Amino acid sequence: MSAGFQPPPYPQDRLAEVRRIPAKVGLELVDLSIGTPVDPVPELAMALAASLSLARGYPSSPGSLELRLAASGWMSRRFGVEVPAEQIAATVGSKEFVAGLPAYLRLRDPSRDVVLYPAVSYPTYAMGATLAGCRAVAVEAGPDGELDLDSIDPSLLDRALCCWVNTPSNPTGRVSGYDKVVRFARAHGFFVVADECYVEFVWDRPARTVLEHGTEGILAVHSLSKRSNFAGGRVGFYAGDAELVGYLSEVRKHAGLMIPGPMQAIGAALLGDQEHVEVQRGRYRERLEILLEIAASLSLPAEMPEGGFYLWVSDPERDGFELAAMVAEATGIVGSPGEFYGPGARNCLRIAAVAPTEKLAAIAASLK
Ligand SMILES: Cc1ncc(COP(=O)(O)O)c(C=O)c1O
Repeated sequence: MSAGFQPPPYPQDRLAEVRRIPAKVGLELVDLSIGTPVDPVPELAMALAASLSLARGYPSSPGSLELRLAASGWMSRRFGVEVPAEQIAATVGSKEFVAGLPAYLRLRDPSRDVVLYPAVSYPTYAMGATLAGCRAVAVEAGPDGELDLDSIDPSLLDRALCCWVNTPSNPTGRVSGYDKVVRFARAHGFFVVADECYVEFVWDRPARTVLEHGTEGILAVHSLSKRSNFAGGRVGFYAGDAELVGYLSEVRKHAGLMIPGPMQAIGAALLGDQEHVEVQRGRYRERLEILLEIAASLSLPAEMPEGGFYLWVSDPERDGFELAAMVAEATGIVGSPGEFYGPGARNCLRIAAVAPTEKLAAIAASLK
């Protein structure tokens, strides 16, 4: 075996032992460790199965004009920002883009090699940096919960390619502001890349996008996986800085990245519809309330998240694997230990609201 990069175990694959616990105590396993949608794909998408005729030819790599106009229209209606179709391009779901972006940014500017990301966050931000041979630099949250930008070693700032922001955050559910990070990044010549894949699920205030701050030096990343229960369709897009979107679209075209044609057509239709999103918001909100009841029954400290569909339990007395084992034994529910999202979250557990509401309600009732 060479001494080169060896992929670490995939986080959720480390849960095999916890997943065996419910059966041992006679409970049904309810796996809430991955944020994978369980609710139906909107009927609107089913009706477009006929778009399979679009599978014959090669699809457009940056996305059909129809898809990009649909994305533009959605951002206009939803956030009041106007982004032309040329400043929007498609991704095959958003994970490949998160994992690939540092490599593309480094190709564009080889003088920079640092990727900044929130210290407690979706693991793919750091993995993308690693895969590109860049330095992944975790930025801690300050006392106000926002990224503590002043804590970054100043010698790294001229080397930074981008800073990831994720709001609402997976896993914490926090909704953060963009003013400070946008100003800071522009002052230091790196990009702000906002992963807004949970933006439809903000619970206590209007949803915002980073593109309210203009597009210069900024990208917003979106996905239909969560918004439209369409994780299997692999439809996402990024939007923002005109020069960067143009560059990335060209590089990604050479790399052969394309959303299959029928999925682009379905994606465009889904972006044009808000009704199914309202239905989904209702489901997640109700389930989060039930998960809160379950946490209370187990005396676990948790609050309603500001956004997203994860309950984020934090217990200084136990580490995340102990928490996961305790919850699995008491309820059958398997969550994700906080250390999957960064060493600072060792005492946390993330539980995704992705089981049918009745199932969660039955668990809550059984604990009373
Ligand atoms: C914060 C965040 N970004 C991106 C993704 C990737 O989602 P997808 O590739 O399905 O768009 C996820 C998936 O869980 C996520 O939690």
